[in-house]
Amino acid sequence: MPLSLHPTTGDSAWFTHDRFGLFIHWGLYALAARHEWVMQKEEIAPEKYRSRYFARFEADLFDANDWAQRAANAGMKYVVFTTKHHEGFCLWDTELTDYKVTNAPLGRDVTREVVDAFRARGLKIGLYHSLIDWSHPDFEIDDQHALRFHPDRENLDEGRDQSRYAEYLHGQVRELLTNYGKIDLLFYDFSYPERFGWTNTKTGGPFRGYKDRTAWDAENLVKMCRELQPQILINDRLDLEDVEAGWDYTTPEQFVPREGVVKEGKRVVWESCQTFSGSWGYFRDEESWKSPQQLIGILIESVSKGGNLLMNVGPTGRGDFDERANEALQVYARWMKRHQKAIYGCGPAPDGFVTPGGCALTSNEKTNRLYLHVLLWPFEQLHLENMAGHIEYAQLLHDASEVRFSETTALANADAGEHAALTETQKRGTVTLRLPVKMPDVVVPVIELWLKNE
Ligand code: GLC
Repeated sequence: MPLSLHPTTGDSAWFTHDRFGLFIHWGLYALAARHEWVMQKEEIAPEKYRSRYFARFEADLFDANDWAQRAANAGMKYVVFTTKHHEGFCLWDTELTDYKVTNAPLGRDVTREVVDAFRARGLKIGLYHSLIDWSHPDFEIDDQHALRFHPDRENLDEGRDQSRYAEYLHGQVRELLTNYGKIDLLFYDFSYPERFGWTNTKTGGPFRGYKDRTAWDAENLVKMCRELQPQILINDRLDLEDVEAGWDYTTPEQFVPREGVVKEGKRVVWESCQTFSGSWGYFRDEESWKSPQQLIGILIESVSKGGNLLMNVGPTGRGDFDERANEALQVYARWMKRHQKAIYGCGPAPDGFVTPGGCALTSNEKTNRLYLHVLLWPFEQLHLENMAGHIEYAQLLHDASEVRFSETTALANADAGEHAALTETQKRGTVTLRLPVKMPDVVVPVIELWLKNE
């Protein structure tokens, strides 16, 4: 029996069906083009950071429709957009600070344009919102802050009031959940409670200034979100593990969990977030861009383990996607055009199916079809253990070309005779698919198996 799914307070039905979304990290850090944490990594004081980048955020090529069209072409069904990252710069027309995009040269409400463009193409809308804010004067300086090693740290921290910051945070989220229509998902980022056991990176001593649920008044924050948008899905980075209705889904970052995620005997809704290269914000000189095989492989692996993939783009300071990102999105577009049936509405294979080496399985319970993703193309034969009697028909998914197969019902099978010695080891109950010698010209070929209704 497959484990049952942990219920969510928000609506997760669309989420576990759609499986594939686009993460967008955009902010002033796109201009530095060397990681979205540049302010922190290089210990740049907030005023200095602001004076260097704010007045230069022209983004003359920004076109939310172009972004949305590329995501839709790639087969992505939802977007998660950074309304504010740790730097503190706001990408919507907030009334609570002047550090916002409508005051920068670009002068447009980017969040509104993004929401409208993606919604117009039928994608669901998710907002990323940073809990951390290195520019806000009330955000208490901790050992992760951009000012952590500032010689005048103690003085700069004087008079800061984290609870006032929490009010600002609540006020901003209220704006976002009130003025932009239906928001399907909120991705908060992130808490660092004491149990993390961090150290100060310079002294090696204990970390000062952990921030847990109390730093955000997180329980009330979630309550407000659920009042304003009752169907909203909320991620798990508010430090509310043990709070009923505290979160809906979990967000493994830069990896796919080995076997999905299970908590207290129930499967949990999860989404792996990943980047095309190493960082989330646009990073000009990064070279670790994933290959087409890896891009498609991560998506397949996530779904085969019952999760989602949220793949990230960091638009440039001009406001468009870098050509390397466009190419990566094209890889998805080409593959998803012919293989989306093996992704949407799919999850892991039913219990008892053995995944052959070099393959991954996804299945659609509703249509009773199994999808065999062949990551490593074998020579002519592919053996499926314990499947004899269960398969009605098989074809390559991209072109609906039949794949013939035979079944081994007895130890000495039909092929015996002169090759008896070789087939002796063939297991009873095995299905052998007859594949073309030449691998089809798609990044990962998929074989669609119609299962018998049993
Ligand atoms: C992280 C990082 C960050 C990124 C993110 C995505 O915790 O701080 O820069 O936005 O999570 O999951």
